[in-house]
Amino acid sequence: MRGIVKHFGGVHALRGVDLTVGAGEVHALLGENGAGKSTLMNVLSGVVRPDGGAIEIAGEPVELSTPADAQSAGIAMIHQELDLVPQSTVTENLFLGREPRTRLRTLDRAAMRRHARELLDDIGIELSPSRTLSSLRVGEQQMVAIAKALSLEARILVMDEPTSALSDSEVERLFAIIPRLRRRGVGVVFISHRMDEIAVVADRGTVMRDGGNAGTFVVAETAPADVIRMMVGQPIEQLFPDREPPRDDVRLAVRGLSVAEHPGGGRTEPRDVDLEVRAGEVVGLAGLLGAGRTELLDALFGLAGHRMAGTVELDGVPVRLASPRDAISAGVGYVPEDRRVSGLVMMESVAANIVLSALPALARAGWRRAARERSAVASSIRDLHIKTASAESAVGTLSGGNQQKVVFARHLLREPRLLLLDDPTRGVDIGAKSEIYRLLARLAAGGMAVLVASSELPELLGICDRIAVLRGGRIVTVLDGGSATQEAILAAASLEQHPTVEAR
Ligand SMILES: Nc1ncnc2c1ncn2[C@@H]1O[C@H](COP(=O)(O)OP(=O)(O)OP(=O)(O)O)[C@@H](O)[C@H]1O
Ligand SMILES: [Mg+2]
Repeated sequence: MRGIVKHFGGVHALRGVDLTVGAGEVHALLGENGAGKSTLMNVLSGVVRPDGGAIEIAGEPVELSTPADAQSAGIAMIHQELDLVPQSTVTENLFLGREPRTRLRTLDRAAMRRHARELLDDIGIELSPSRTLSSLRVGEQQMVAIAKALSLEARILVMDEPTSALSDSEVERLFAIIPRLRRRGVGVVFISHRMDEIAVVADRGTVMRDGGNAGTFVVAETAPADVIRMMVGQPIEQLFPDREPPRDDVRLAVRGLSVAEHPGGGRTEPRDVDLEVRAGEVVGLAGLLGAGRTELLDALFGLAGHRMAGTVELDGVPVRLASPRDAISAGVGYVPEDRRVSGLVMMESVAANIVLSALPALARAGWRRAARERSAVASSIRDLHIKTASAESAVGTLSGGNQQKVVFARHLLREPRLLLLDDPTRGVDIGAKSEIYRLLARLAAGGMAVLVASSELPELLGICDRIAVLRGGRIVTVLDGGSATQEAILAAASLEQHPTVEAR
């Protein structure tokens, strides 16, 4: 790609970007939220028409005006926002628009099922192809998208933050496929905000900044600190903020919390959970895939409804958490894992999306107060570095990471007593990560209790006072955040389930 230019109205998204990817190369594309990574790849996959520049594939100039052009030129893309059909089955999604036919031109359902099974086996996921997509976890849906892209036998495969919705073991499976693509000579463009992943999978990387090139580097020869400097324009002094010690008063006290299996099953519900979080304390939830981190947070937000047993107290007062409404009025806030699908109204402005559910907190006697709303929105945009042309821009025009920050801002405006967070920095760039950590430290210093699940262990170690490790829905140990190590967490999280432990 040479000199690619793209304007969206007044926004200069791409200012003449160059990108060269070799056959059999895994090329990382990096940059802060809103740098232009997705836009550049949308140009390559025919979704966005560039205003200028040229594209060559294997030395031949190509014109990629539509997604169909790109597909026939051998380009497949796994988008940051999944473009699958939620109401259809896995099989139907895999073959959408290219369904195998019998000789009578009717759908060859048997062939579809067989082929779907093969594709899923190929990338090592256990899923019934006949399940509807909406019944799957976000990570599983992502794996279906990946299976689909791989089945297109592409020459160039673009993965836009493929791992942001995957659990660690799913990420491993994805990474296991990459050598195979390399051998087949596929050029892979891999967008990620996680340096550790880039170090593992990528050969070279290109850094974008403000719609331009900031540099291209060979991964094996470059220190992460240098890459961060290229991305941010300056080194990050201190990723994790200094923290104040928590207070003595117990904000959240959970005793004997269990959740009865959902009729649909497939989740690891909490079992006999005892847990306390003090005011001003940040407690982490660690655990492997399926350990039950999300399920515990869901239960505390009232999402398990009447399936939940046990007691929950907030500031010493027992609370009923039979619905999210109960939880909200008790002062519980929740930023869930699948933020992208959690209630942004894409056509509405950034401002409207931020104040949406904060309204009761900002209104007095039922009257909305425009000035207070405006200043709340302005400080959210400033504090979280939300990159947007203005507070009035439609949220749908923001980059993926910036949309996530909007969801985050909305939940913080409610000033909950207890804030539940599920992987809060997934998909946000390193600069915004450090902003979010600072913000959490500030909120905790103000007395908020924070319970945060994360699959990034360095993050938990960096921000938590204590870390509870989950396995099979139970808390198996609680470690001190100051002295815990990644090894200790992993050992606790992955210990083989011993029959006697199970029986207890
Ligand atoms: N359809 C659109 N209309 C208006 N502006 C847009 C549109 N699509 C993208 N932009 C703007 O272009 C810029 C680049 O966005 P892009 O999505 O490419 O960023 P990104 O590097 O992928 O970020 P992230 O890491 O958050 O996914 C942003 O300022 C974004 O707001
Ligand atoms: Mg993007």
